[in-house]
Amino acid sequence: MRKAVCPGSFDPVTNGHLDVFARAADQFDHVTVAVLVNSTKAGLFTIEQRIELLRECVSKYSNIEVDQFHGLLADYCATHDIKAIVKGLRAVSDFDYELQMAQMNSTLGVDTFFVATNPEYSFLSSSLIKEVAKFNGDVSGLVPPVVQQALKEKFNAQA
Ligand code: PNS
Repeated sequence: MRKAVCPGSFDPVTNGHLDVFARAADQFDHVTVAVLVNSTKAGLFTIEQRIELLRECVSKYSNIEVDQFHGLLADYCATHDIKAIVKGLRAVSDFDYELQMAQMNSTLGVDTFFVATNPEYSFLSSSLIKEVAKFNGDVSGLVPPVVQQALKEKFNAQA
């Protein structure tokens, strides 16, 4: 069984992420979307909320599951017998850091496969989505409807 992981913060998941998951699920038998638990970085959504949103968004794929991890991604992969990391590359600006991580993870035993982000989503990031949604900007078409709703509720609750 060829297994891959799509790691990230997913605070929150965007349509750009979902595009990468779908393409990974096409190429691999099983894909785990793994949410990094980072105790030093408070996000907008809790890990549980991010996982719940991700699960709703990938429920139509029988070979995608959602999990969380902390510590090294390479250790998570070793524990779960995962040999491949799949990530989206949006632009040249992503490349330097992604290459460094890919080379380090390769040294630690896991190869990284990059998919070129759909140009429709090349400008998209969770940070920008949060900024636009915070000021009531229109993020429909950029995040799934459940995420749009969750953003509305979060920022209304903070107001
Ligand atoms: O969505 P993000 O925040 O860009 O995802 C970054 C992530 C989670 C993929 C990266 O920070 C990561 O893999 N962190 C786990 C710790 C680790 O393995 N660090 C060494 C990377 S070579």
